[in-house]
Amino acid sequence: VERTFIALKPDAIQRGLVGDIINRFERKGFHLLGLKFVQPSRQLVEKHYEEHLGRPFYEGLVNYMTSGPVLASVWEGKNIISSSRSLLGATDPSKAAPGTIRGDLATQVGRNLVHASDSPANAEREIGLWFQPEEVQSWSRALKKWINEEN
Ligand code: GTP
Ligand code: MG
Repeated sequence: VERTFIALKPDAIQRGLVGDIINRFERKGFHLLGLKFVQPSRQLVEKHYEEHLGRPFYEGLVNYMTSGPVLASVWEGKNIISSSRSLLGATDPSKAAPGTIRGDLATQVGRNLVHASDSPANAEREIGLWFQPEEVQSWSRALKKWINEEN
């Protein structure tokens, strides 16, 4: 099984959408391993989004992501990296399908509510940036045989 890093961005917090968004991950059957509410430093966000350094939207992106607290989380599940990005919908909410988080709840690319890692290597890199190892729990759910055919 894969792990991924999910962050509820400052607009999700300000708009009171934490419960709604977390609920979608829980109902999907994903397994929560870590959760914390953090005011990210500029340095952390610059590292997190280093692949976008030099893009025209980079400065605005860093300002947006440091504008208030973020809910950082680690989740586990089968194919969770691609599956969680499907739950989020397209980067630009105006192009995101109804039923997705961005499609249902957002309208603009610069206020798109949530981040999900885009590859296994980036997931591990991002988990390491945002979490200490002891902040990520390993625990077993009684429900697991009802979510995963093979355990
Ligand atoms: P993340 O999960 O946040 O990484 O989004 P993504 O993987 O769907 O998109 P990408 O990594 O390409 O872009 C990172 C973030 O930069 C996006 O989520 C947007 O918030 C922002 N962004 C990307 N492209 C644009 C753009 O063209 N204009 C603006 N204003 N913001 C952009
Ligand atoms: Mg991305």
